[in-house]
Amino acid sequence: MKKILALVVSLIMALSCIAALAETVGVSMPTKDLQRWNQDGANMQAMLEEAGYTVDLQYAANDVQTQLSQVENMISAGCDVLVIAAIEGSSLGEALAMAKENDIPVIAYDRLLMNSDAVSYYATFDNYMVGTVQGNYIVEALDLDNAEGPFNLEITTGDPGDNNANYFYSGAMDVLTPYIEAGKLVVVSGQVEFADVATPTWGTDVAQNRAENILSSNYADGTNIDVWLCSNDSTALGVANALAANYTGTYPVITGQDCDIANVKNMIAGKQSMSIFKDTRTLAAQVVKMVGQIIAGEEVEINDTETYNNGVITVPSYLCAPVFADVNNYEELLVESGYYTADQLQ
Ligand code: BGC
Repeated sequence: MKKILALVVSLIMALSCIAALAETVGVSMPTKDLQRWNQDGANMQAMLEEAGYTVDLQYAANDVQTQLSQVENMISAGCDVLVIAAIEGSSLGEALAMAKENDIPVIAYDRLLMNSDAVSYYATFDNYMVGTVQGNYIVEALDLDNAEGPFNLEITTGDPGDNNANYFYSGAMDVLTPYIEAGKLVVVSGQVEFADVATPTWGTDVAQNRAENILSSNYADGTNIDVWLCSNDSTALGVANALAANYTGTYPVITGQDCDIANVKNMIAGKQSMSIFKDTRTLAAQVVKMVGQIIAGEEVEINDTETYNNGVITVPSYLCAPVFADVNNYEELLVESGYYTADQLQ
């Protein structure tokens, strides 16, 4: 009995020794409220642990101060690499400076960390391309090059504190603006500028409130809305909710991004036209690879050195390709690939 006990004790000691030796990766995520960040965090944690690292994964409840102190705590606790998806790209300056002082490399995850020279790498999906895919989808869905129109359009984009929101908006608007200028697309509310169409926090309720106001002020007289450009799924959900309660005209084309479960269900039910599939497994795997390369002192794989200037430096980036999703390909993309089970989409 004594021997077994001694064996167990030395096993535990050996294991804790290994754990102490393993590099720690601090992973800071913005919020658990949105499905995708839960998947991002879980995928990264699983892959990093499988690669032998210790993971300190924290969610900041969409509160900038919380994220700041979580990242500072990760640094104080001696993490070796930081992976951060910022709530607000510009608000982590102090923590980033602290990381730099402590020689801790920082990977900006999905959202660029702004106004700091302490950002080592950026891994994301091609954000501008997300917008152009949404814009081109609208051009094709309404056959804007041939149909007479005009078609009524409304626009909902994301959080002004998220650098990505600008890219999504610009990508889509670069495609759609010529049609607006030609009068083929008419924004009945007149709300076109980024500041007017933004959705602080990306909240579904925020998008829904604004959409309800737009509908009651501009469409209550029976005017049809043909298309609603939404930059992502949380905002598309808000718009769909507003339409369900306040609109009886022909159902518009609605765009989205993320393939959240509620939105895939809406696509199946004909309440959302498309989404963008950003396979979080791909991004997580890329980041795990980059972490490994950083720790091994190897060259870190990047594929873009020009696009993402954060106001201080141009951050070497790896851009994954976003994929178009709709009711015709979701089964192959999402179910057959094992991203969701068929049951989850019932
Ligand atoms: C991400 C999107 C997401 C949005 C809201 C963006 O930074 O790139 O995938 O829908 O944040 O969380």
